Amino acid sequence: MIERFQKWMRNKGVPTLSDDNIPRHIAVIMDGNGRWANRKGLPRFAGHHSGMKAVKRITIAADAMGVKYLTMYAFSTENWKRPKEEVDFLMKLPQEFLAIELQELIDKNVQVRMMGYKEDLPEHTLRAIEEAESKTKNNTGLVLNFALNYGSRRELAETVKEIAKRIESGELSAEQITEEQIERQLLSSHLPDPDLLIRTSGELRLSNFMLWQLAYSELWFTDVYWPEFTEAHLYEAIAEYQRRTRRYGGLS
Ligand code: IPE
Ligand code: IPE
Ligand code: MG
Repeated sequence: MIERFQKWMRNKGVPTLSDDNIPRHIAVIMDGNGRWANRKGLPRFAGHHSGMKAVKRITIAADAMGVKYLTMYAFSTENWKRPKEEVDFLMKLPQEFLAIELQELIDKNVQVRMMGYKEDLPEHTLRAIEEAESKTKNNTGLVLNFALNYGSRRELAETVKEIAKRIESGELSAEQITEEQIERQLLSSHLPDPDLLIRTSGELRLSNFMLWQLAYSELWFTDVYWPEFTEAHLYEAIAEYQRRTRRYGGLS
């Protein structure tokens, strides 16, 4: 797969990817489903449905390109504000996605994970996610991490609460709080920080996504709506990532 894209991009004049600098973790704010549908004269849910196909496409492509962790922002803690019909539809998508794709994900050695607050999810949504997590937990390939009912501020508040409880119980002292200590409490404790953040649909904001974890990530934005995001766009994002110099506050 990667060779096909190397060739395709060479023809477009974009440099080929170097295998030794593939971002280990890519996080994606999959945005623009509604506007994509609107532009086509379709209802918003058709956009979400089409966005689901893009998730499949990009999972396979990222795996083929050598990415190890792929985090997909699927539903934020603020998305409950949307009309009930839309929320209900979005909460059915994990089941539908997994019913169609889980077997192939298993065959591809993908490990499915969820990052978010499970307790607020409808029973049917949670069941599908937990089945996928449990059936893929021993897989050693790409980690496909769904940020579902995820919100960074809530995550940080819960982290502070948890650490405060430990201090209250005498297990920890205030002086012992470190960055590592905080990271262990975050919902992303099973992941390295994202190397690359992609946001589609032309919006230039984080929308409460991984505020701590993105501190030194490279950011890449595109006007393309999520349902039309293809392997070629992913390739382009990685190529741009490889042209950047990450300094982490030091000197290159
Ligand atoms: C992203 O697409 C999917 C979710 C947030 C669930 P949107 O539904 O936000 O699409 P736009 O931004 O309205 O076009
Ligand atoms: C961010 O998109 C959340 C997801 C992609 C799941 P939104 O569409 O909710 O973000 P805002 O409201 O435009 O900031
Ligand atoms: Mg949006």
